[in-house]
Amino acid sequence: MLSYRLLTVVLLTASFYPCEAQEYHLTRDLAGSNLYNVSEIDSNNGGNVHFISQSDADQKKMTFIDSAGRAIISVDNTTDGKGDTQFGRDTVYLISNDPIDFGSLVVFDAVHIPFGCSVWPGLFTQGTIWPEQGEIDIIENVNLESRNQYALHTAASSGTLPELDINTGCVVRDASNKSFGKGFADSGGGVFAMLWDASGISLWFFERSNIPSNIDTKPDPSSWPTPSAFYPAETCDPRTAFGPQFLTLYINICGQFAGAPALWPTSGCASEAAPTCADLVQDPANYNNAYWSINYLRVFESSSSSSSSSPSGTAPSNSASAGVNAPSATNTGTASGSSSGSSGSGAGQNSAALNVSPNLIYSILLFSCLTVLFWV
Ligand SMILES: *[C@@H]1O[C@H](CO)[C@@H](O)[C@H](O)[C@H]1NC(C)=O
Ligand SMILES: *[C@@H]1O[C@H](CO)[C@@H](O)[C@H](O)[C@H]1NC(C)=O
Ligand SMILES: *[C@@H]1O[C@H](CO)[C@@H](O)[C@H](O)[C@H]1NC(C)=O
Repeated sequence: MLSYRLLTVVLLTASFYPCEAQEYHLTRDLAGSNLYNVSEIDSNNGGNVHFISQSDADQKKMTFIDSAGRAIISVDNTTDGKGDTQFGRDTVYLISNDPIDFGSLVVFDAVHIPFGCSVWPGLFTQGTIWPEQGEIDIIENVNLESRNQYALHTAASSGTLPELDINTGCVVRDASNKSFGKGFADSGGGVFAMLWDASGISLWFFERSNIPSNIDTKPDPSSWPTPSAFYPAETCDPRTAFGPQFLTLYINICGQFAGAPALWPTSGCASEAAPTCADLVQDPANYNNAYWSINYLRVFESSSSSSSSSPSGTAPSNSASAGVNAPSATNTGTASGSSSGSSGSGAGQNSAALNVSPNLIYSILLFSCLTVLFWV
């Protein structure tokens, strides 16, 4: 009798809380040539780069679709900057025309992420107003690192003291040493996924040999293993801490992360490559691995979330770009495309860039969401 009652309770509970997976459907496919349906932004985050227009990048073969159908996005590795201590390499800053909204699942499949001493790639999402509308870092690390780092940047607790150590706060390191850098490339790359829903924000990395089936067409996060990083809604409300998010992908060189004086000496680059990050920039041979090779970048929405109003918003106001975004803040200190990431003046020169480029000013970042689950 007792067990019968229990069974009834279980059945009732099951009927109130159906366990079947949410169905996700593709809403945006930024693969192949679609990946270039984006606009550039003029901000170098204190790095030794110069973001050129998409058409220039196409012309210079810095962005193209290769024979395997993959989107290649790279850094100039032919120009010799010898003698120019402020030299900045050409590359692109890509930002989506439209934002994604709460309820979205982003899936990114690549075989190569830019790496090497002084190299700092990023795949992230950002709101129009930063940091009030938040930023979600899906792929980001620097130099010779082999493990990816996930992070959230929000203004939810704007009373928090500036976070000086970029390896703390909301940053979570993937456990896999194939999630970034040479290890990622040598093992055929893999797939990253980011789910932004009522439970919070979840980020996964799957090695090539371990990718869930149908992830590219009918992804089912409920069947996936524990995420690499999970920021629960209880400590960071995913509906209020984040506005509509614009997908952003770029490559930087040196700057506040790759070239950070606090990081460089222990990066392996100081002994292997050069005493300072800036020493490497002039030599194009250092950038042969500074490229993305992308199978696809897809956005899915669940059936329930898709019934809500569609995402709206304008591209980050900081985006000074041609194309859809109105030209705005020009980056006075960096008009030449160069600035010294290792010098103290770099940050001052880039004050316009700071507004614009959420991703980098780690030294003035306000981290909220202090409760993070580390699975490492
Ligand atoms: C690409 O850009 C065009 C023109 O701005 C726009 O109409 C179209 O919706 C965009 N497509 C995607 C997938 O963003
Ligand atoms: C990567 O991790 C695996 C298993 O965790 C370990 O056996 C291997 O030595 C690591 N490789 C490097 C280059 O650290
Ligand atoms: C630039 O890098 C690409 C990608 O690794 C490589 O194929 C090319 O040969 C490099 N160019 C030069 C001049 O080394």
